[in-house]
Amino acid sequence: MISVIGGTGPQGLGIAKRLAIAGEPVIVGSRKEDKALKIVKETKEELKDYDIADMTGMANEDAAKAGDILILTVPLVAQTATLKTIKPFVEGKILIDATAPLEAAIGGKASCILDVYEGSAAERTAHILAGCDVKVIAAFNNISNSLLLNIPNDIDCDCLMAGDDKEAKAAAKEIINKLPGVRVIDVGKLEKAHLIETITPLLIGLNIKYKSQFGGIRITGIPKLDE
Ligand SMILES: NC(=O)c1ccc[n+]([C@@H]2O[C@H](COP(=O)([O-])OP(=O)(O)OC[C@H]3O[C@@H](n4cnc5c(N)ncnc54)[C@H](OP(=O)(O)O)[C@@H]3O)[C@@H](O)[C@H]2O)c1
Repeated sequence: MISVIGGTGPQGLGIAKRLAIAGEPVIVGSRKEDKALKIVKETKEELKDYDIADMTGMANEDAAKAGDILILTVPLVAQTATLKTIKPFVEGKILIDATAPLEAAIGGKASCILDVYEGSAAERTAHILAGCDVKVIAAFNNISNSLLLNIPNDIDCDCLMAGDDKEAKAAAKEIINKLPGVRVIDVGKLEKAHLIETITPLLIGLNIKYKSQFGGIRITGIPKLDE
């Protein structure tokens, strides 16, 4: 079961909708169970013409307890508090972190990166969850909510992914590849996450400069990426 922690925002809900349409049962997590249930009810109504997989809403803690694969989609300012609430339930699981460390978190620009002491937001997540047997992966950082929510259109973007555990990355890749148009690219260990996270403010800046909302990224010229 996949649980999206902080799944009521545009990024998490976009991922949840795409996964449900692709036939993956999904739990939408929130700090407040009522909010999660309300948003899931509205989402099911919105997607009534699709044969979606089971979708339910829960408090983040319950969502973390119920899921095997957790996708974290909260802003950087909420990262520590959210992870502390779910820490008791992450043992033996995979956590995919979508957090982009943007300067907007401290009142600056969303088109600028915020340096994170641990090296990246995903490594910060691994640091906060230290002592737990949880496989942290950075992914989804480069896919904007505009692309995710542009249903039913394909998502014209690669999903760069970093993490230390090969099996966990294989499991994450299998799921993320279900998003139409998305190609998952494993860039290496979690220490590479900062490279992925830096692309997000770049794309945001390009969207602002060229008045778009669908900026994405494709890696070309490396045939083995498609094997
Ligand atoms: N939006 C994008 O296009 C995009 C693209 C790439 C990466 N990302 C990353 O994905 C993450 C989510 O993005 P988003 O735009 O969906 O974020 P968001 O709407 O600001 O927040 C997502 C959810 O996090 C919870 N939350 C918000 N503020 C919180 C706080 N102070 N404390 C605890 N929980 C809080 C809320 O859920 P509840 O109120 O239900 O608890 C909210 O619905 C961010 O880290 C962002 O950098 C976003």
